[in-house]
Amino acid sequence: MLSTILLGICALTASVTAQYTTQSDPFYLVLLSEDLQVNGSTLNACHEGAAIEGLCVGSKLPLNGTTTGFSTFQFNTSESITVPNPDIGETGLLTFTLRGSGFNESEAMSLYPYTASNVALPLFQPGYSQTPVAFDARELLNIQDYIDDTVDPAVAAGPFALYRWYSCKVYYTGYRYTVLSWVYGKYPPQNPTCCKVDVLRVFA
Ligand SMILES: *[C@@H]1O[C@H](CO)[C@@H](O)[C@H](O)[C@H]1NC(C)=O
Ligand SMILES: *[C@@H]1O[C@H](CO)[C@@H](O)[C@H](O)[C@H]1NC(C)=O
Ligand SMILES: *[C@@H]1O[C@H](CO)[C@@H](O)[C@H](O)[C@H]1NC(C)=O
Ligand SMILES: *[C@@H]1O[C@H](CO)[C@@H](O)[C@H](O)[C@H]1NC(C)=O
Repeated sequence: MLSTILLGICALTASVTAQYTTQSDPFYLVLLSEDLQVNGSTLNACHEGAAIEGLCVGSKLPLNGTTTGFSTFQFNTSESITVPNPDIGETGLLTFTLRGSGFNESEAMSLYPYTASNVALPLFQPGYSQTPVAFDARELLNIQDYIDDTVDPAVAAGPFALYRWYSCKVYYTGYRYTVLSWVYGKYPPQNPTCCKVDVLRVFA
């Protein structure tokens, strides 16, 4: 059993160190939710620190096609990764291009965990660690893993897709934001403001 788990870990590490240089066309990220106020809201890059952007929950895409002010994202994949399961999708990096005066910086999304909470923040940060994600056959954003530790002994049962996305009010560096969040583990978010969402890719 230990050797199967190690195999799983090795497979994941291999994908983390891959070069993700094949870039998709730009797309919007749209929330799907049972909450009709939230359903259809877009995610927009919002400044949360020096070159650090979070995914703030914004207004819905207008039906008249006006898209000024809405963020687009891209998906960077690697040619060296074979897709183990097309239904849950190929893993790659969710990227955002930070445009500054005289520079364009492609930043990858990574999860920023809090020690005291099971609610983590997806952030775009230059040169920071990367959290591989995927879009499934329904265009829904997921994070994949290999190991199920809810049973004894733990099993390497993967890859499987997780969709633990929520819209939450969070504190980050002294400010309050309503942002896309990720909940670690199978229990509900301990932050009482969180509302369950799915994240849909809509090409621009
Ligand atoms: C994504 O791919 C583009 C095109 O190869 C590259 O310029 C960019 O640096 C990549 N972004 C990240 C965060 O790796
Ligand atoms: C949310 O919006 C989508 C797309 O507009 C729609 O198909 C879906 O039925 C809506 N969900 C709810 C719960 O109303
Ligand atoms: C399109 O709709 C948005 C939001 O409803 C509005 O702010 C904008 O002025 C409209 N643009 C045009 C060209 O009608
Ligand atoms: C950044 O990208 C924009 C849009 O593609 C382009 O117009 C601009 O010239 C780029 N700036 C730099 C410094 O490369």
